[in-house]
Amino acid sequence: MDEKKKVMLSGIKPSGDLTLGSYLGAIKNWAERAEQFDCYYFMADLHALTTRQNPADLRRRTLEQLAQYVACGLDPEKNTLFIQSHVPAHAELGWVLNCYTMFGELSRMTQFKDKSKKNADNINGGLFTYPALMAADILLYQPDYVPVGDDQKQHVELTRDVAQRFNNLYSETFKIPEPYIPKVGARVMDLLDPASKMSKSDDIGNGRVCLMDRPEDIARKFKRAVTDSDTDEHCVRYDPERKPGVANLMQIYASCTGKSFEDIETEFTGQGYGAFKTAVGDSVIEMLRPIREEAQRLMKDKSYLEALCKSGADKASYIANKTLRKVYKKVGLVPRT
Ligand code: TYM
Repeated sequence: MDEKKKVMLSGIKPSGDLTLGSYLGAIKNWAERAEQFDCYYFMADLHALTTRQNPADLRRRTLEQLAQYVACGLDPEKNTLFIQSHVPAHAELGWVLNCYTMFGELSRMTQFKDKSKKNADNINGGLFTYPALMAADILLYQPDYVPVGDDQKQHVELTRDVAQRFNNLYSETFKIPEPYIPKVGARVMDLLDPASKMSKSDDIGNGRVCLMDRPEDIARKFKRAVTDSDTDEHCVRYDPERKPGVANLMQIYASCTGKSFEDIETEFTGQGYGAFKTAVGDSVIEMLRPIREEAQRLMKDKSYLEALCKSGADKASYIANKTLRKVYKKVGLVPRT
């Protein structure tokens, strides 16, 4: 039966604590797909190395991320959850695909340009070739869909191009995956700087809400959120051009409550931004409360998390190695006997 299910795969770098952006843009859309799809989700720890990490923090965050995946509703019985570095096929196929990804293509990646600016003292080779490893992460599992936020769409498109190129050279090897972008929540912006995306890797700030934030901190961050400087018209209206801060809060509120922008505008007619910001903060607090409590409970159970890592890596390796063997054979590497 399972063979017939479509395959879904995605990952998150444990380069910072998971944020509301990681949740609304990615994880929320992963949960509840388990019945319909064969799902693989991983902690992209090899990707995290492209920027400097404190080793102890990286280790802690990787396991915390696993606890948070489970707390967000990813049932480990129904989803394959694993750590990227536990499946060596990722690094191995990553190298091969490096040789089929063009310098020009990598140079055009928006994320590379942004990250090079932010890490000007550490523009390393890994940061540049990152999309080839991401292509390997994806193509190893032959997925139909890759659910990601807006910022990762370009990398999934490059993955498709690399897969096509390989298939054209060596005959059908990889399935060509589709990016799967949510309608709302695909780009959650910083609460204090609505022109920048809410990022887990940037400096700790009040513009970012983390899944493990305490309710009182979440409430405070929403109270301080930027709305707009347009003094004539203090109304809740969806206008991303003129009111990017309000539009971002409306996106968050819509994602948390399932309400449409129209419903939200009606709900806050005649009210100031204060009431609106409190309502958005409350909806986020209530959405995250059970996740935070469950993740805290799971984080205390190290042996459970370690057992999950092992069974996830075993399941993932089985599938990944099948694709890797096929690729090695096609490009002409001598099989190990
Ligand atoms: P990463 O770790 O930056 O982000 C993980 C996922 O969260 C989404 N996301 C957001 N969505 C909406 N608003 C935001 N502010 C926001 N911030 C993050 C991202 O779009 C992403 O879906 N390279 C990837 C990790 C990766 C991967 C993969 C993903 C490695 N290999 C294979 C899919 C398939 C990354 O750095 O995501």
